Amino acid sequence: MDLIRELESLAPELEKGLAQASSLESLEELRIAWLGRKGRIAAIMSGLPKLDPAERPKVGQAANRVKEECSRLLEEARKRIAGSQEKKRLERFDPSLPGRPVWQGSLHPVTLVTEEICDVFNTLGFDIVQGPEVETDYYNFEALNIPRDHPARDMQDTLYITENIVLRTHTSPVQARTMLSRKPPLAVVAPGKVYRRDSDLTHTPMFHQIEGLMVGQDITMANLRGILTAFIQAIFGKHTKARFRPSFFPFTEPSAEVDISCVICGGAGHIGNEPCRVCKTTGWVEILGSGMVDPAVFKAVGYPEDISGFAFGLGVERVAMLKYGIDDLRLFFENDARFLSQFGQYA
Ligand code: FA5
Ligand code: MG
Repeated sequence: MDLIRELESLAPELEKGLAQASSLESLEELRIAWLGRKGRIAAIMSGLPKLDPAERPKVGQAANRVKEECSRLLEEARKRIAGSQEKKRLERFDPSLPGRPVWQGSLHPVTLVTEEICDVFNTLGFDIVQGPEVETDYYNFEALNIPRDHPARDMQDTLYITENIVLRTHTSPVQARTMLSRKPPLAVVAPGKVYRRDSDLTHTPMFHQIEGLMVGQDITMANLRGILTAFIQAIFGKHTKARFRPSFFPFTEPSAEVDISCVICGGAGHIGNEPCRVCKTTGWVEILGSGMVDPAVFKAVGYPEDISGFAFGLGVERVAMLKYGIDDLRLFFENDARFLSQFGQYA
């Protein structure tokens, strides 16, 4: 019966030890010393085989009781120590200190301007649609009245993936895709990335466009002018000057490019004695190409002959430059946080 007495002395002894313990580490040391594989209970139990077989069950039961009791004491001590650590942590917490500022990301100016432009057209009744950036020669050129050997292909230096697959050079292929999947009347805008083999101070190989298309009965150039003027005034303010300049695109006839007065130099062409590098001293910046949809395009998508419509494609970076007074296109793509953080914050 010595073993049972020995076992029963273990729990009170552990209790004393635990009363001294103040860290979870010292608690763990005690747990190993008492309950571990080479601990005190195990050591006592190693004497079991020497006992009379009739005595063994009682000793075994006592050992189990003691193990349970020791576990309970350890758990109690763990709760006590964890609680006091939490209390200490809270005592160190000073609610009167000012909070640490949370770093907030901001939307890229191209994203902000894209959203703003799409919102304006959405209000005017346009749906927002999308098309693929990797495009077939057919949608990027053929369906837009630009056959293979047409000189107009030289207007845009194309990046070819294969002979028949290109990185779209403009968002205009979305015109054909939209007309193939919808019946007139329709009004859509299609924002997205476009790619050209072009790289210098004012050109990057990737930039953003927003395509617009409105098709229905009796849509005229006056509608084109009205909608685009409303858009320009919504984005740049009522007093911004816009001019419609005759131009050429194979998929529109007649065609016009739209310039707005340069906001960097106020339309003067110079800033002091320095020539303005955004408008290149002209006082105007081209922001979009537009025109009445060419009948050849309607024919390619199987639209009826009596239908009419207008289309436009605008450069998002150009709009962003003018809107925010940014005079270097490269700033958009360098991702310098000092530049980017000046724009709108996430709500
Ligand atoms: C086009 O891409 C025609 N698809 C636009 C169009 C659509 C005309 C529908 C008629 C009907 P253009 O290559 O001019 O046209 O480009 C349109 C606009 O994209 C330009 O006015 C300009 O704002 C912008 N842009 C063109 N090239 C670049 C470039 N390398 N970097 C930044 N913006 C550019
Ligand atoms: Mg152009």
